[in-house]
Amino acid sequence: MSEHVRVLLSEEEVDARIQAIGDQISRDYEGRQVHLVCVLKGGSFFMCELAKRITVPVSLDFMSVSSYGKDTKSSGVVKIVKDLDESIKDKDVLVVEDIVDSGRTLSYLLEMLRDRGPKSLRLCTLLDKPERRVVEVNVDYTGFEIPDAFVVGYGLDYDQRYRNLPYIGVVEFD
Ligand code: IMP
Ligand code: MG
Repeated sequence: MSEHVRVLLSEEEVDARIQAIGDQISRDYEGRQVHLVCVLKGGSFFMCELAKRITVPVSLDFMSVSSYGKDTKSSGVVKIVKDLDESIKDKDVLVVEDIVDSGRTLSYLLEMLRDRGPKSLRLCTLLDKPERRVVEVNVDYTGFEIPDAFVVGYGLDYDQRYRNLPYIGVVEFD
């Protein structure tokens, strides 16, 4: 079976939206420092682009949780593969994710981070597939709401490929 990628959101559209979110975050965190927590690997491209557009002081850290393998359906299993390097206690934490799908990963992650005593905890996701939600998650900043399709690019992969695409595309099988 072969596959191809159809463009869903162009590089220009994604860049413009990230700029708008960056402006919003800069306003919302005025006078504070925002601590970005990137969920690897998917969130990394978005986080770098977002961080460059935030004008308040920024610090950042990374964590990695288990998600999909080759399968395109959620296993429901969430495991911490790499934890944060630094404490988030009393920090204004903004979790940066590539996509909220079933919501399982984020609901687990946010609960775990909340237990560590941040001053505030918010979530920013580039993409949201609301139709797919199984567990409720409060999203503070959303790039785009998209329909239920398997997407790649801008950090998102299919079997570890396509993360480097500078746009968001839908994988279609021929
Ligand atoms: P959840 O179902 O909300 O827990 O999503 C968990 C993770 O699945 C996301 O952080 C992504 O890494 C991955 N994922 C969900 N939907 C897609 C997709 O359409 N393309 C690529 N990865 C996805
Ligand atoms: Mg992810």
